[in-house]
Amino acid sequence: MSTEAFSGKVFLLITGASRGIGRQIAITFGSLLEEGSRMLLLARDKNALEEVAKIIPPKIKVCTINADLCKATKTDFERFISECLCGTPCNAFDQLIVMHNVGSLGNITHTTNKMLDIDTWRQHYDLNLFIPAILNAVIMNIFDDKTIKKTIINITSLFGIQAIKGFAYYCTVKAAREMYFKVFALENPNVNMLSYSPGPVDTNMFNFLCEFAVDPETKKRFLDEKQKIMLTPEQTVNRLVHILEKHKYKSGDRISYYDNM
Ligand SMILES: NC(=O)c1ccc[n+]([C@@H]2O[C@H](COP(=O)([O-])OP(=O)(O)OC[C@H]3O[C@@H](n4cnc5c(N)ncnc54)[C@H](OP(=O)(O)O)[C@@H]3O)[C@@H](O)[C@H]2O)c1
Repeated sequence: MSTEAFSGKVFLLITGASRGIGRQIAITFGSLLEEGSRMLLLARDKNALEEVAKIIPPKIKVCTINADLCKATKTDFERFISECLCGTPCNAFDQLIVMHNVGSLGNITHTTNKMLDIDTWRQHYDLNLFIPAILNAVIMNIFDDKTIKKTIINITSLFGIQAIKGFAYYCTVKAAREMYFKVFALENPNVNMLSYSPGPVDTNMFNFLCEFAVDPETKKRFLDEKQKIMLTPEQTVNRLVHILEKHKYKSGDRISYYDNM
């Protein structure tokens, strides 16, 4: 079955596709794509990526590339996309969808006055801001044909707009990433850009913050959320599909799982 938001032959790129929300995006979106669509899945864990690829219907060609995105360069991204295109011209696709899903918490045992190591800051910003920005520019330059419909989705977080003790690496980078994509949306009025905040989702990341959050009140808040309102990856990705299908937002907007759309 295909819907308007996923119609035609789609080239879909997902970062952080080996587990959690990214894995579910691959599975759910994969079930909606038409024959001739193609998926490029990126993360470090080769075996996990291959397991995800096995779940995608065989009519969709899936390329998995295991790479540490912290260390990837513009040239690496050009090569990854070219390997996945495998000689097929970009204009053989009706749509490009890019899911900037990759994300990390950073060291959540540190409060701001202990955040003194520039390399730690840089590594966190490499993966969470600089790499999505470079990948986005690379793929926009490759898919520069104006006839191809383009949707860029940034997976953001409540903590990009709400400060929380012990989360300065995470909060600041999510805020910066949202603003980067707002600027991108302004500059590219023909692109459909959305920052989606998925709510508290049962993944490794959420379990990690429940265990290691440095502030006791914060930790209690997460443990309560885990008991009461935790979402499954499937629930939040289904909501994202609904939001894309309804398309009641302006390009560059941020929408949360909980927004009434
Ligand atoms: N879970 C939540 O409650 C929640 C709430 C709000 C926002 N989010 C956001 O949702 C997104 C996905 O989070 P999640 O909960 O699904 O996290 P997760 O379970 O930790 O998954 C993170 C994904 O990113 C990949 N990744 C991490 N570091 C990488 C690196 N250096 N190079 C390549 N890939 C890397 C991981 O794969 P490998 O380990 O195989 O590399 C994995 O596929 C993130 O942007 C997160 O900030 C999550």
